[in-house]
Amino acid sequence: MSKLNIEVKKVTDSRIAEVDFENLSFGEEFSDHQFEIRYDNGAWQTPRILPYDAVPMYPAISTIHYGQAVFEGMKAFRYRGDKANIFRVDMHYDRFVRSCKRVCIPEIPREYFIEGLKTLIDLERDWIPEAKYKSLYIRPIVFAADQTLGLRSSKTYRLHIICSPVGNYYAEGIKPIRLTTMPEYVRAVKGGVGDAKVPGNYAASLEPTIKAQQQGYTQVLWLDAIERKYVEEVGSMNIFFLIGDTLVTPPINGSILPGVTRNSVLEIAKAEGMKVEERPVSIDELIEASRNGDLKEIFGSGTAAVISPVGSINHEGQHITVSTTSDEMGPVARRFYDQITGIHHGEIPDEYSWCTVI
Ligand code: COI
Repeated sequence: MSKLNIEVKKVTDSRIAEVDFENLSFGEEFSDHQFEIRYDNGAWQTPRILPYDAVPMYPAISTIHYGQAVFEGMKAFRYRGDKANIFRVDMHYDRFVRSCKRVCIPEIPREYFIEGLKTLIDLERDWIPEAKYKSLYIRPIVFAADQTLGLRSSKTYRLHIICSPVGNYYAEGIKPIRLTTMPEYVRAVKGGVGDAKVPGNYAASLEPTIKAQQQGYTQVLWLDAIERKYVEEVGSMNIFFLIGDTLVTPPINGSILPGVTRNSVLEIAKAEGMKVEERPVSIDELIEASRNGDLKEIFGSGTAAVISPVGSINHEGQHITVSTTSDEMGPVARRFYDQITGIHHGEIPDEYSWCTVI
């Protein structure tokens, strides 16, 4: 039992020996335990840590009909030997409850979420891979649990936190990926749910992403839903451009996910005295900057993606390329990558108080 009265039921036999930590795909292996808390009778009940197992459900459970659900993506890292570091817990919790509010899911108290998570990661610390580019990905998910076909906000919910040891998100590793716009599709509109981490946003991205992949691109670069002219995000990450000596990224405007890694990049850039602009970036500006050699680097940021370089963007047959075209991450993206992963693992002092070390 922890000080929060978390019930803990441990596995009798760990599955860890069955996992090939050298060859981890993203999100295919799951650790021994999960955190679970139920919302019943108008209140969050006793939190529990249980063996990772199936969640039985009836076909009438409302979440699979109407999508009243929210998830998060966080990571724990090996920190100075055998300690564990959960990165930017508070910011992830804040985004989680904001997303929940948008789809009428009751707020889980901060201490339940954070203490539950710390207890879980403490128990699963052997599952945190050692290599610098690997981590234990943490996936909180909360979903409506009423059985009803009526379209209404559920009265009951289930919240689970599961963990998955991961390597790089993209098959390319940290080599530059290729993006394409898909102006016939949009990801989100202001006033919708594009700034909340709800599963439907990701389901809606699948068809255009498959089309992009069939054309040889890794992901879709989303344009705004009204003019189909301004860059928004990539779906699995936010996007940054180095234009001249200025770091430019689209502003958080209601249809873009407020990325935690995006925020980390901006904080580091500002602390280093870089010129930073959060402003609308049109695809025409990028085409022009690419033509005249001003577009030095493009990279994405995300919890899963960390910092991932982008080599080129296709927009209706026009090719946007970075001037430092090579097969490697550009020097500015590399600096952010090294800083952020250095803080993750405790090799660089945590001047921003981003680490929860246990
Ligand atoms: C994350 O970066 O944590 C996400 O949730 C993105 C997802 C597509 C893996």
